Amino acid sequence: MTLGELAGSTVVVIGGSAGIGLEVALGASAAGARVHVAARNRDALESVRTRDAKITVHSVDAKDFAALQSLFETIGAVDHVAMTVHESAARLGIDTTAPNMHLDAAAEYFNGKFWSQYRVVQAALPHLGQNGSITLTSGVASRAGMANHSMIGAANSAIEAAARQLAKEIAPRRINVVAPGVTATTTYDAMPEAARADFIRKTTAHVPLQRIAQPQEIALAYLFAMGCSYLTGDILDVSGGQLVA
Ligand SMILES: NC(=O)c1ccc[n+]([C@@H]2O[C@H](COP(=O)([O-])OP(=O)(O)OC[C@H]3O[C@@H](n4cnc5c(N)ncnc54)[C@H](OP(=O)(O)O)[C@@H]3O)[C@@H](O)[C@H]2O)c1
Repeated sequence: MTLGELAGSTVVVIGGSAGIGLEVALGASAAGARVHVAARNRDALESVRTRDAKITVHSVDAKDFAALQSLFETIGAVDHVAMTVHESAARLGIDTTAPNMHLDAAAEYFNGKFWSQYRVVQAALPHLGQNGSITLTSGVASRAGMANHSMIGAANSAIEAAARQLAKEIAPRRINVVAPGVTATTTYDAMPEAARADFIRKTTAHVPLQRIAQPQEIALAYLFAMGCSYLTGDILDVSGGQLVA
């Protein structure tokens, strides 16, 4: 399969109203796929339709399994699913330093980052075609050493481990993970300006490409994962070299 063959396929992007997911949705639609985007905020979903009126939008919370089941029942047969939901630790107000982290809050983060991805897999599988694919999202913190990222790194590693195991279980249907480096999305909006600038400055100092990613650059990996019919159980690192720094 090539990217061109995404034309006419049905692609679902959960978390596709902003950031990386929005670029995946726009890219798949430009390649000729019938694209469905799910996220919570209706205004943001409407703005997706302003960008591309061919995209169908659904208001769904990925923490609600029944709502995900209902989404996939409504859509019917599906070829490719991309899962890019993000409820950041900053938005949840979690202090991610080990001595101060509140473990109930950390469990809530884990629910959003890891279990929401698992819920999407469970809800999607009954509707996924035999040549279909699921692409989950982790992040470089699964393997790059980053201060105050023990909880985030653990959640990302869990996603990568689960996908490797699931690849055997669900074949010939495919499942892969994209592991983005730090990317310029709305995800950092909740951080105080000074803390955000400091985080980006410290990150870029360790990235060989000396900058953070643009979401369009990360989105290409999801489109590749959908289109490459020999890819499963694999992790696509798009880190600007952070993992070799
Ligand atoms: N940006 C980075 O630097 C970076 C680095 C490494 C990994 N990642 C990973 O990449 C993925 C995408 O991140 P991003 O930066 O593109 O995020 P983003 O810009 O914050 O966008 C997040 C998307 O997820 C949706 N969403 C959040 N919670 C949801 C829920 N419970 N149910 C349904 N939709 C929900 C949001 O819409 P609503 O809020 O309206 O629902 C939005 O469409 C995440 O898994 C993130 O951990 C990002």
